Amino acid sequence: MFSVTCIAPVNIAIVKYWGKRHEELILPINDSISMTLGTNELCAKTTIAASEGFQHNRMWLNDDELPVEEDSRLMRCLKGVQRLALANGSQKVSLSWKVHIASRNNFPTAAGLASSAAGYACLVYSLARLYGVPINEELTTIARQGSGSACRSLYGGFVQWHSGALDDGSDSVAKPVVSAQHWPNMHVLILVVNDERKKTSSTKGMQRSMTTSQLIQHRVDKIVPERTANLKKAIEARDFPSFAEITMKDSNQFHAIALDTYPPCVYMNDVSHAIVDFVHSYNETIGEVQAAYTFDAGPNACIYVLKENVAKLLAAVQKVFPNDATESVEYLRGISVSATVEKHPAFNGTLNVQAKNLLKYIIHTKVGDGPCQLSDDNSLLINGLPL
Ligand code: DP6
Repeated sequence: MFSVTCIAPVNIAIVKYWGKRHEELILPINDSISMTLGTNELCAKTTIAASEGFQHNRMWLNDDELPVEEDSRLMRCLKGVQRLALANGSQKVSLSWKVHIASRNNFPTAAGLASSAAGYACLVYSLARLYGVPINEELTTIARQGSGSACRSLYGGFVQWHSGALDDGSDSVAKPVVSAQHWPNMHVLILVVNDERKKTSSTKGMQRSMTTSQLIQHRVDKIVPERTANLKKAIEARDFPSFAEITMKDSNQFHAIALDTYPPCVYMNDVSHAIVDFVHSYNETIGEVQAAYTFDAGPNACIYVLKENVAKLLAAVQKVFPNDATESVEYLRGISVSATVEKHPAFNGTLNVQAKNLLKYIIHTKVGDGPCQLSDDNSLLINGLPL
């Protein structure tokens, strides 16, 4: 039996992917740019074992077994990497052997964060390691077929997914813009919002936008090309105010298109809108753009902020969004996990204080590296079965 264990990061889009030109191949209608987050705080971990003795392909996700053969996206990823292994002629492991896969996230799935991107990136990366396939752009075309945004999680730092123009999708690849080391003080606070509502999945929501939104084509033709070019310049120059303005405008535009969809996709809630107001008032109060929000297909906010400004922002968040759990280790997770409100300078600007307990918890993370392989003692499988 051969096995590998790997981890892969979450990524958060700054210029959003929304809309496909091909459903099965997962080809997007526009380019997107994301930032990869640190794996210490958020990652997927996957072990894949291959053995002559296994009868079927099997997979366990966070303890539950999934019907692998019925999952077309999963099978596309498995077959895709096996095809590359065959073309490459470099298999360490026989392609006829069945595989057992176990995957877990190191963060609660209930947080509604981009778990599918990290999960599929980790699956494809682990398969590549198992079969000895090189980690390159071609591999991103396989991860893309698991979940579009997953292709961007194969690299660290800032990453661009090129929509491509070819029908077979071979030019729809993710490429690094700059590594995590280029802007190491780029940090993120994820404000996890209390919310019970079931959302329309990204896949379904974007299908509906494609058939009903009249704004979406304007975004593709006129907005995204200029925005991606300007964003790359801002990232290269480490120009936070320009980066922040593009980030917030693109989040707002994505949600405008979600609302222009018929029936509309409502992803942000009242708390999300209170966070938007808070970030704008905060920037105005300190007289400089030091925080930038972005929201995906859910109510949670990702706030980009430079390391040197985290303590001040966190103090303001704690003031505006008071919480009974503020003191608990569960409430503030990640990099400043050991820091309490008292350790941060009190924010002395005037901001509208909201009702208590609107946030579930806060995760503090930063720009991070791409996937990596771990040693065998990190395995999630023993004798081919989950721990
Ligand atoms: C709003 O990658 O989850 O997070 O390709 O259908 O699996 P599928 O969708 P998915 O969509 C992500 C949408 C988004 C924006 C983004 O990450 O670019």
